[in-house]
Amino acid sequence: MKKFALVLAVLLSAFGVAAESKKSPSVLVVYFSHRGSTKTVGNWIADCADADIFEIEPQKAYPSTYEETLPIARSEQDETMRPLIKKRLQNLESYDVVFIGYPLWFGKMPMILYTFFDEYDFSGKKIVPFVTYGGSPVARGWDEIPQLEPEAQIIGKLAVKNGKVKKSKSTVEKFVKSLNLKDFANQN
Ligand SMILES: Cc1cc2nc3c(=O)[nH]c(=O)nc-3n(C[C@H](O)[C@H](O)[C@H](O)COP(=O)(O)O)c2cc1C
Repeated sequence: MKKFALVLAVLLSAFGVAAESKKSPSVLVVYFSHRGSTKTVGNWIADCADADIFEIEPQKAYPSTYEETLPIARSEQDETMRPLIKKRLQNLESYDVVFIGYPLWFGKMPMILYTFFDEYDFSGKKIVPFVTYGGSPVARGWDEIPQLEPEAQIIGKLAVKNGKVKKSKSTVEKFVKSLNLKDFANQN
């Protein structure tokens, strides 16, 4: 009798766990970072969301200083250029949720992000843009993403001020947890 009760308990707990557990979504963090702040935030997001990471690296690296980069980035924007990306992302189709991070450049996404959105199709994906910025109070550069990727769904947005990045780890983690990513697993 005791044995029977034990077997029953094991079976019930196994079914209980199976009923409660949800499939985890496959999550990717993509970022472009010129001077490291966006990379820091992207790494925290990836740790917290158990995600893979892909860095958008320009084929022609930008100068290391802010001052030298300004005129280059300005002319890229004025001429709506599409700076080339060094490496290709191989398996976008295997991800359900994609965080996409960049530094704010002149109130917009750097043009290399436009190259990125030109090259990949995010139809059916959940997108979470994240941006680091110096001080612009309003622009975050993400208003164009729905036009560039009309078949994707934006499920959250995060902006972190550059001067606060170092102290923002717990804010970033809270943000990731608030998204309840398990709700976005592709059940197919
Ligand atoms: C070319 C250029 C343009 C920028 N334009 C803006 C801007 O319009 N508004 C803003 O708040 N910060 C601006 N910044 C500051 C960056 O957004 C900020 O330093 C960002 O956190 C850098 O991220 P990173 O370290 O990942 O490159 C600009 C920086 C550069 C290099």
